[in-house]
Amino acid sequence: MSLENPSTTKPSNLFQRPRRLRRTATLRRMMRETTLTVDDLIYPMFVMEGEGQKVEIASMPGCYRYSLDLLLKEIAEVSQLGINAIALFPVISENKKDNTGTESYNPEGLVQQTVKAIKQAIPEIVVITDVALDPFTTHGHDGLVDENGTILNDPTVEVLVKMALSQAAVGTDFVAPSDMMDGRIGAIRQALDAEGYINVGILAYSAKYASAYYGPFRDALDSAPKFGDKKTYQMDAANAREAIKEVELDIAEGADIVMVKPALAYLDIIHQVRQATQLPIAAYNVSGEYAMIKAAAQRGWIDEKQVILESLTSMKRAGADLILTYFAKEVALMLL
Ligand code: PBG
Repeated sequence: MSLENPSTTKPSNLFQRPRRLRRTATLRRMMRETTLTVDDLIYPMFVMEGEGQKVEIASMPGCYRYSLDLLLKEIAEVSQLGINAIALFPVISENKKDNTGTESYNPEGLVQQTVKAIKQAIPEIVVITDVALDPFTTHGHDGLVDENGTILNDPTVEVLVKMALSQAAVGTDFVAPSDMMDGRIGAIRQALDAEGYINVGILAYSAKYASAYYGPFRDALDSAPKFGDKKTYQMDAANAREAIKEVELDIAEGADIVMVKPALAYLDIIHQVRQATQLPIAAYNVSGEYAMIKAAAQRGWIDEKQVILESLTSMKRAGADLILTYFAKEVALMLL
């Protein structure tokens, strides 16, 4: 007679025992509602000028800025691990930055050269290029700024269109506007179509919040705004209905995939967007979310691997189809 099954004259009146389905690892696998796979992952990567260079980002241990030659090696490796897509961000030297971000649409610029080289060396990897001015402007804002420090919407959209076209010209698979200007998805879609790039997709940063979780990324790119903040274009952290409005606008304007960013503090937004659209949803597990886990793990305060898997699984459970994460390579290795 086992302890769990004492013989008793009194039948149990507990007819539902949820623990029955959690009894063994096999049962738990059978009952699992959400699975994280390598197909869900998009790896954000940083490219810089030069050769033979790989520089770790202090606030993002395990993440590097790569010169193109080493970036190609790294992409070949992550592609071997089964990662389907990378999101590319450039580190632009100060002498190439100006007030209006002209380097962003230089046909021979760092991003353009990098995309060309990736498409030649590893054609199977899906390349997603960022569309926003902050890596290219001396002031670090995502848009053009007037003499009063106001971020100008429509003139910025014109530059973003040039930038997106220059990326399409070198073979990017998706352009990903991360700037939060009004109307940029529609303007970019129209321009891409007019130039014949009907198969270049748009991954729209639709609900992008003005978040303190971007700190380490701005270190990585040296792109922190030199004055003010991004609150006149990125969304207020307190708002949910506004996220649905932004998503609806981007869909109407031609987005192929909509994104919520950051992810962990915005799981409710991912869930609500899931109810609002049939389009694929991406979640951006941003630099600050990465840094928090790394820092606690380095001190031995949390089980890093389990916390990573639990966090990314929660994003999928909330409704995300794709996750941009700096953990992509580590997770691909865990899931092998
Ligand atoms: C800027 C951009 C940011 C990130 C991606 N694109 C930062 C910002 O808006 O200031 C953040 C990514 C991260 O924190 O991991 N266009």
